[in-house]
Amino acid sequence: MRVAGRIRPPGDKSVTHRALMLAGLSRTKVVLDGALTALDAKSTARVLRQLGVAIGPLRRGEVTVVRGRAWRRPSRTLDCGNSGTTARLILGCLAGHRFEARLSGDASLRRRPMRRVTEPLVQMGATVREEAGDGLPLRIRGAQLKPFRFLSPVASAQLKSALLLAGLAGGVPVTVVEPARSRDHTERLFSYLGMDIRVDAVEISLQSAGSVWPRTEPFDLQIPGDASSAAFLVAAAILADSGELLIEDVGVNPTRSGYLDVLERMGGRIKTERRREVCGEPVADLVVSPSWLTGTEVKAAEIPGLIDEVPVLAGLAARAAGETVFRSVGELRVKESNRLNLVAENLRAIGAEAAVAGDDLHVVGSERPLRGRVETARDHRLAMTFAVLGLTDKARIELSEPASAAVSYPGFFEDLRLVTGR
Ligand code: S3P
Repeated sequence: MRVAGRIRPPGDKSVTHRALMLAGLSRTKVVLDGALTALDAKSTARVLRQLGVAIGPLRRGEVTVVRGRAWRRPSRTLDCGNSGTTARLILGCLAGHRFEARLSGDASLRRRPMRRVTEPLVQMGATVREEAGDGLPLRIRGAQLKPFRFLSPVASAQLKSALLLAGLAGGVPVTVVEPARSRDHTERLFSYLGMDIRVDAVEISLQSAGSVWPRTEPFDLQIPGDASSAAFLVAAAILADSGELLIEDVGVNPTRSGYLDVLERMGGRIKTERRREVCGEPVADLVVSPSWLTGTEVKAAEIPGLIDEVPVLAGLAARAAGETVFRSVGELRVKESNRLNLVAENLRAIGAEAAVAGDDLHVVGSERPLRGRVETARDHRLAMTFAVLGLTDKARIELSEPASAAVSYPGFFEDLRLVTGR
């Protein structure tokens, strides 16, 4: 298979959620350039509209105009769809608003833990009523919040960001101490917008946003290409027999680009060019060539920086020489699916060697043709991982459904066809 040409991944999902919410919390017109137009981004836009924010349509290749204003009590349940980031970050925003809102989502999202976010928000002063234990649906009522310092038990950017957004919406200082550094898009965006946010290793403090927030001066935000979506294109180019792929405008924030370090260690031929900064986020072009990979040990400390890339890295490990071990990836059990078990089960279903031992994932590579049926559980990252493996020599992989790719990467299959010429 030949993978060649140039391509730009869709806008960053994490940055798009944050940009939409900050624009929605402002009191001005905000123009977003390069925002993600996928289902998850649409979930955030839909919820913000229900809260009274005016948001133009999210269309590929067009800017999105947001008009921030005072939020109002929603008349119906806020439907967060499949998006954990929408649910958790909006909970943070709502904690600072004195009305009640009910949140729900699809079957996958309703199963995901919310107490990690709601418990600290309750400590800040919000009231939460669960309807089905630790998950959605639930109701939250915001209040006058208290200044807050939180020692987080998990390295979760969604949790950290929910608390920082609560501090912003509620006008109180918040400090979060993480066990390990999670993605720092919220910190970067706050800082880019002039807020007093301080980062000292794993301690993040938002002082009162006071004079700069809510912002009344119009502003623009440019959103980089999504590092996690780019990872599937990188994987396709690495697995190719020939060609060279240029992937443009990819976010290379060090709290997200751990997969590039791991691939480099495995022998991946990836060059980073034209490094620059866009609205506080590092961006670059990646040039990827076909590569022979060797297995590696991915240490627990590396996991937060590549948490969403474990499925695709595990897929690549199935084609590498020797064994790859991912240490302490238990968090994958509470993603859009039980990604830990499903990655291993699906790799085995197509004839690869993979096993879960405690919280570790082991994959042994081989060159045998990958054939079989994959159960995606409607998890976008599983669908895309196995679609890419399906490009390998003599592979015949059937996906239970391909449509979930649109959760984060609309046009994924078109882009794959474009770069493979198939
Ligand atoms: C995200 C944080 C991560 C990641 C998710 C997006 C974010 O989740 O897996 O896809 O935008 O903050 P956790 O914070 O639960 O680790």
